[in-house]
Amino acid sequence: MAKDAISVIMERRSVRKYVDKPVPDEDLKTILEAGRQAPSAANRQPWHFVVVRDPERRKQVAEACSNQTWMADAGVIIAGIGKPAVSEKWYPVDVGIAMQNMILAATALGYGTCWIGAFDEQKVAQLLGVPDDCKVVALTPVGAPAEQPAARPRQSLSEFASAERYGDEFA
Ligand SMILES: Cc1cc2nc3c(=O)[nH]c(=O)nc-3n(C[C@H](O)[C@H](O)[C@H](O)COP(=O)(O)O)c2cc1C
Repeated sequence: MAKDAISVIMERRSVRKYVDKPVPDEDLKTILEAGRQAPSAANRQPWHFVVVRDPERRKQVAEACSNQTWMADAGVIIAGIGKPAVSEKWYPVDVGIAMQNMILAATALGYGTCWIGAFDEQKVAQLLGVPDDCKVVALTPVGAPAEQPAARPRQSLSEFASAERYGDEFA
């Protein structure tokens, strides 16, 4: 049975070690579908996602991501591309929401992922044939995890949230 949403959210970690094996198409389709169902401002869907499976291209993309070479060991790298011409104000938010939907779906299916924000946009765009009027927002590897990282620290609830007015303790 699929894990419930809260468990998936709590269990997700940034995974930076992978076993290099393919992600079956069926799982990839589920992951992409999770992104496709994401909300977007005025339902404009100002996004496109490039799924990189080819090992050599994965390597090149990983190098263009500040040489985070471990990314290339994941069976797939997904690049989230925004379309400013479709939604100039909201494309980064909308692509982010869709990416996170995909990351959570991948987690539910047992895959590791890691948000990648450190990349040379020109290099990634060139490698993936991204049109000039589009923006690379973020990437993630998706693959069989070869590590189970511990939870990273988070702010306390009182730092993170207030009741009624900013700074009033949530209790
Ligand atoms: C927008 C964004 C960009 C990130 N870029 C990178 C990155 O380039 N490389 C990396 O290893 N982790 C990256 N991370 C992962 C964060 O370091 C990680 O989410 C954070 O340390 C919390 O750990 P956790 O994801 O395991 O909870 C990024 C995360 C976000 C949200």
